[in-house]
Amino acid sequence: MNIAVANQDSIARAASLLQQGGLVAFPTETVYGLGANALDGQAVARIFEAKGRPQFNPLIVHVADSTAAAALVEMNEAARAVAAQFWPGPLTMILPRREDCPVSALCSAGLKTLAVRVPAHKVAQQLLQESGLALAAPSANRSGNLSPTTPAHVADSLGDAVDMVLAAGPCTVGLESTVLDLSTETPAILRPGAVGAEEIAAVLGRPVICEMEVTDSPKSPGQLLRHYAPAIPVRLNAIDLEPGEALLAFGSDKFMGIKGGGAAKDLPEIARRNLSTSGDLVEAAANLFRMLHDLDRPEHKAIAVMNIPDQGLGIAINDRLSRAAEGRG
Ligand code: TXA
Ligand code: MG
Repeated sequence: MNIAVANQDSIARAASLLQQGGLVAFPTETVYGLGANALDGQAVARIFEAKGRPQFNPLIVHVADSTAAAALVEMNEAARAVAAQFWPGPLTMILPRREDCPVSALCSAGLKTLAVRVPAHKVAQQLLQESGLALAAPSANRSGNLSPTTPAHVADSLGDAVDMVLAAGPCTVGLESTVLDLSTETPAILRPGAVGAEEIAAVLGRPVICEMEVTDSPKSPGQLLRHYAPAIPVRLNAIDLEPGEALLAFGSDKFMGIKGGGAAKDLPEIARRNLSTSGDLVEAAANLFRMLHDLDRPEHKAIAVMNIPDQGLGIAINDRLSRAAEGRG
């Protein structure tokens, strides 16, 4: 496995790997992150593949400064105040995506919001500057393993699933960033971290609630992480189409027929998407949320989805689709 001590030369190589769609684990002040170009859907899909996550949780996008963040999300007044006080540092903000936000929909797991953070670690900053990219980066561990605070943790957990590990010793904070949701009426902490609720409330001049306390209660499912699901029904494992249905294909749809007559391949463009004509699960994951959004139109009776193999990234794709089919987003 490719572990390199972080210096000018290795950071330049890491930046170039990222620009080519590769995965690079890099240090931040909180934990090591598993980074990919946030604008490249297939690179982001490979993060989920490497982590072996059976679900698409939204990811944090790392940027060099507030100006770079403002190109991705709507920085409201509260966000600007929090950024001025706590960035760079161990704090993530959830904000509405800008209309023209170029970040892959997979980073947001289809939601209208995006998590952004400006890390303080010198190596993370150098990598962001050198690559000129926004980097999607969850903690650099396989799903179910502890968050990595040393290069050895990353290597043990991810092995060859990552193209390169930039090593810079142990992380100083050692705990994931505070996640602050500023996309709704009341500021809410979704994940506690080094920056506390009182500190944030002092900057905002109003109270900050800790949604974690509510989230843990099974009585308040409305407070659980909201997932994106289309407004129209989703039908799985379709082998043909009902009239009025839109098609979300996987692989060849040459032989898909429409009940009562007609072929799926003759549907108008607006009613037909293909996650991957070659049956590539990485490509399918990268396309999933954008294509669901494309087909989620009131003039369609439902979205009929062809069978997707339940292996590798297909497990996370099927998890998302079956929640949508059961109407629980
Ligand atoms: O310290 C950290 O934050 C590390 C380093 C690498 O920066 N990153 C990290 O990322 O912990 P990850 O993907 O393991 O955690 C992201 C957290 C999850 O709890 C996720 O649910 C939440 O942020 N999150 C991300 N985007 C969200 C969104 N749009 N809405 C709600 N929650 C979101
Ligand atoms: Mg994690």
